[in-house]
Amino acid sequence: MRPLEITLVGGTGFVGSALAARLAAEGHRLRLPTRDPRAVRQLSVLPNAERKRIDVHDPVALRDVVAGSDVVVNLVGILNEKGSSGAGFTRAHAELTRKVIAACIESGVPRYLHMSALGADENGPSHYLRSKGVAERHVRAAPSSLDWTIFRPSVIFGRGDSLLNRFASLLALSGGILPLARAQARFAPVWVEDVVSAFMLALRGGATSHESYDLCGPKVMTLADLVRLTGEVAGTGARVIPLPDAIGRVQAFVMDFVPGKPFSTDNYRSLRVDNVCRDNGFDRLGITPSSLASIAPTYLGRRSR
Ligand SMILES: NC(=O)c1ccc[n+]([C@@H]2O[C@H](COP(=O)([O-])OP(=O)(O)OC[C@H]3O[C@@H](n4cnc5c(N)ncnc54)[C@H](OP(=O)(O)O)[C@@H]3O)[C@@H](O)[C@H]2O)c1
Repeated sequence: MRPLEITLVGGTGFVGSALAARLAAEGHRLRLPTRDPRAVRQLSVLPNAERKRIDVHDPVALRDVVAGSDVVVNLVGILNEKGSSGAGFTRAHAELTRKVIAACIESGVPRYLHMSALGADENGPSHYLRSKGVAERHVRAAPSSLDWTIFRPSVIFGRGDSLLNRFASLLALSGGILPLARAQARFAPVWVEDVVSAFMLALRGGATSHESYDLCGPKVMTLADLVRLTGEVAGTGARVIPLPDAIGRVQAFVMDFVPGKPFSTDNYRSLRVDNVCRDNGFDRLGITPSSLASIAPTYLGRRSR
């Protein structure tokens, strides 16, 4: 099949790097706009990849970078914003999605793949989930000349993830003891390579056109289970101390003021809803997802070494 010209907006991050590597390996030509000049240098190992430093929020720059693409993939996402008004989430998720879609329409791009998140909902409990919900509405309202697919994964793990690696660092620092807000919140962790496989299947549309896929790994785990498994694999052990809600809220509030916001009130609010699938999109896609327990030892802690 003919190789495709593909633009990855937000393609420099954790998921984007895994997707870019698979696309490049299959011979597709990639454009990787980024705001970060260091990311431009890091990506230079990929064949067939054109790296461009642009302001992706500038509609003209965006239109120029997507023009001539067969497929545009939007992977932009943030877990925290500066301040707490929600404006940062709205800009990165909802407004940017609207701009990317407008750029696709203006320049005649036929296909758009959108990365959302499980639980995205305009009426959700956090700015993160609400802004992701608004972004999905923009995708569904796109003019018919744009063929789209939406992916909504639960929490994603894999080499370079922030979740397990962050827990592993915290456990190493704390001697394996971790006080945890919302310890009983439930997830179905999904491997980044399975998420990439879903995107690969959807590149040319077909049965995935105008479809939305919730993506979950094979096993439902609580946040406490996730931390315990991380401790076991990383060799630190993990004693989780579940925090009562009132104290968890205070912990999140304090973290709002820690540089880099390792946890925040908005994250705490996102954890109010379980992050598990009712209808796992992997079934419809014919993909059998791998479990966290089988993959984590390949990249986390002493066992990977
Ligand atoms: N990781 C997970 O567990 C998970 C779970 C569910 C859904 N998702 C979704 O999957 C997508 C990718 O996640 P990820 O873990 O790969 O994220 P990531 O590693 O943090 O990468 C995010 C990407 O978005 C870009 N970006 C960040 N803030 C931006 C802003 N304000 N304006 C424009 N671009 C911005 C960055 O590009 P620059 O090069 O310009 O910095 C980067 O390439 C996101 O939409 C996320 O919400 C992730």
